[in-house]
Amino acid sequence: MEARSIFPALDRQIYGKPLIYFDNAATAQRPQAVLDLQQRLCVEACGNIHRAIHRLSAEATDAYEAGREAVRRFINAPARENVVFTSGTTASINLVATCFCERFLGAGDRILVSEAEHHSNLVPWQLACGRQGASLEVLPVDEAGELSVEELDRRLAAAEGRIKLVAVTHISNVLGIVNPVRELVAVAHRYGVPVLVDGAQGIIHETVDVQALDCDFYAFSGHKVYAPTGIGVLYGKTRWLDEMPPFMGGGEMIDTVSFEKTTYAPLPLKYEAGTQNFVAAACFAPALETARALMDDPVLQENLLAMRDFLLAELGRIEGMRIYGCPRDPQRKIPLISFTVAGAFPADLAQILDKMGIAVRSGHVCAEPLLRRFGQTSVVRASLAPYNTLAECESFVAALRRAVNMLR
Ligand SMILES: Cc1ncc(COP(=O)(O)O)c(C=O)c1O
Repeated sequence: MEARSIFPALDRQIYGKPLIYFDNAATAQRPQAVLDLQQRLCVEACGNIHRAIHRLSAEATDAYEAGREAVRRFINAPARENVVFTSGTTASINLVATCFCERFLGAGDRILVSEAEHHSNLVPWQLACGRQGASLEVLPVDEAGELSVEELDRRLAAAEGRIKLVAVTHISNVLGIVNPVRELVAVAHRYGVPVLVDGAQGIIHETVDVQALDCDFYAFSGHKVYAPTGIGVLYGKTRWLDEMPPFMGGGEMIDTVSFEKTTYAPLPLKYEAGTQNFVAAACFAPALETARALMDDPVLQENLLAMRDFLLAELGRIEGMRIYGCPRDPQRKIPLISFTVAGAFPADLAQILDKMGIAVRSGHVCAEPLLRRFGQTSVVRASLAPYNTLAECESFVAALRRAVNMLR
């Protein structure tokens, strides 16, 4: 399959040079099919979902629910009731941190997070712990960037029932390592502890089957999987979604309302208060169709691995280079590489690369505690998608060498 031609943004020139987009872990580009549906729904079906009898509303509702069905199939959720639309990964995690903790977390209890978490899977738990008089426990990563299933087992045994939930990332947005989530979930379940998986990066690099993972919650964003911004998903097991209180109150999430008492809508609408971003939700259908096609294409997948191996080898040849996240099994590294180069500030490197038409991320990449663990406050991150090419990787390495020489 020809991947580049379906993403019109890749035709852009930046400062007169062809764009090399290596910031896919932050936001992926959108395929033409998503842009077309976005445009069509805004023009033809701009009516509020689930509310009116008129045709525009009915078409908008159908498109919204088709988006939900596309998500359900993509992650193999058992039913549509398990797929809650939110505004993104951050909102999904905040929903669970608020509702689960209000119901199940008490004074003296703990939430366990890993050291590799994005701030989105850390700060919401800190806030919830503060409200409930509970505390955070941190599962460390080792020098390679890996989590230990045995260490989780030890922590859970030592906690004697005080750990009420484990929140862990499927793939760190800094280290690019696929964590052993299935094993982590199995261990946590032996202690009766539910697990939330932050799937912001996992959803696009792994084939996610929430029933096989057996996780209790799985959170991800649309914009990292070729859908628009402002839409995301919380997958939850029915038991938890039933037992947790609603997140926000308002229209759509109710069954009946009186001044004395309100009852709530059945799942998933109980968690979808107010007018939703239905155009973006509907776009999950073409976005995930694109994602599936790209993931199932053996040539593109082989090329991704070739680009990863090329970059790891070539970057490793640059003097003063340090790469973060080097798993013992190299196949557990996705084509996402965070690095520092001695004598060159990450922001300066990113700025020079931008002038050469190359988009990379720099800074703390929303993972300050993890960077601190490796003695850094800032890194450069190059993250690839199936539409990137080996020729772009070659240009990137040459440009990076030039940038490093300019700064040292
Ligand atoms: C691992 C991880 N978790 C959470 C998030 C937050 O996603 P969003 O900003 O779309 O809510 C990101 C975004 O980069 C991420 O990489």
